[in-house]
Amino acid sequence: MAKRKPVIVVTRRLPRDVETRMMELFEARLNPTDVAMSAKRIVDTCDGAQVLVPTVTDRIDADLIAKLPETVTLIANFGVGVSHIDLEAATARKIVVTNTPGVLTDDTADMAACLLLAAPRRLGEGERLIRSGNWDGWAPTFMIGHRISEKRLGIIGMGRIGQALARRVRGFGMTVHYHNRRRLHLDIEKELEATYWDDLDQMLAHMDFISINCPHTKETHHLLSEERLSLLKSHAFVVNTARGEIIDEVALARLLASGKIAGAGLDVYEREPAIEPTLLELDNVVLAPHLGSATREGRIAMGEKVIVNIKSFVDHHRPPDRVFEI
Ligand code: DGY
Repeated sequence: MAKRKPVIVVTRRLPRDVETRMMELFEARLNPTDVAMSAKRIVDTCDGAQVLVPTVTDRIDADLIAKLPETVTLIANFGVGVSHIDLEAATARKIVVTNTPGVLTDDTADMAACLLLAAPRRLGEGERLIRSGNWDGWAPTFMIGHRISEKRLGIIGMGRIGQALARRVRGFGMTVHYHNRRRLHLDIEKELEATYWDDLDQMLAHMDFISINCPHTKETHHLLSEERLSLLKSHAFVVNTARGEIIDEVALARLLASGKIAGAGLDVYEREPAIEPTLLELDNVVLAPHLGSATREGRIAMGEKVIVNIKSFVDHHRPPDRVFEI
């Protein structure tokens, strides 16, 4: 008798190639409407399933995890960040959690580099002006921004993405500084020509640009609090491609509006898809809609990682991208 395929529940539409492969390998319950599923719908759809495949748009909290059918033993997240999943609750229920590290490193670092350029060169503002039909043409004093070469960039979180950004910005002539839980190996520091700051507050006070590249955890929630943001120089720019919750968004908007911080380039927000209304009114902010990993190549690679994690798990092997050990 043919073995029954493992049942998996996928909460959002994935690239077609990924969904096709999932349907070949598994009994995949897909979401063709792509409308984010309510907690109840996720739980109901998981009836008899072994695997749940959520994304950053799902809140897989303790309550939802407690209601998941006993059959669900793997949460194979489509994405690297897992702060939308209650990992303690998953551990308590002995549910394995996997993610998709590595394959979106370059895309996310590219997005951070884009915003590092776009914000000080006023790209968003310029684009809006052209589309409004009000551009009068070039003038020597028109829309003057700031150069990034020879400026100091402070990277918060020097993991894969932070390091990929460091490699990119050296090409722009920036000097690289970083704060991380652990100092990098000296060989990597040397290769990146990066200066380590043990004290985040000290680093913030000395930088021209800050880029956030650490994961969102209990420890990094509002890491850039109002108090910390107030340490920045008034000509400093802040870029965030990690998670909105790492910055106090209301405080950031207030400091940007009052000119205490020069500008920001943001790809992520505290209450996505809602955005702090003040940010929408500010010209010194470039806003992107969480596009860090949004390349065709990246999203297919993420899907392939999800598939490998599920396949290893259902074949009783160790999934390569386990987020924690049970
Ligand atoms: C990630 O992989 O963390 C992206 O931000 C999408 O979730």
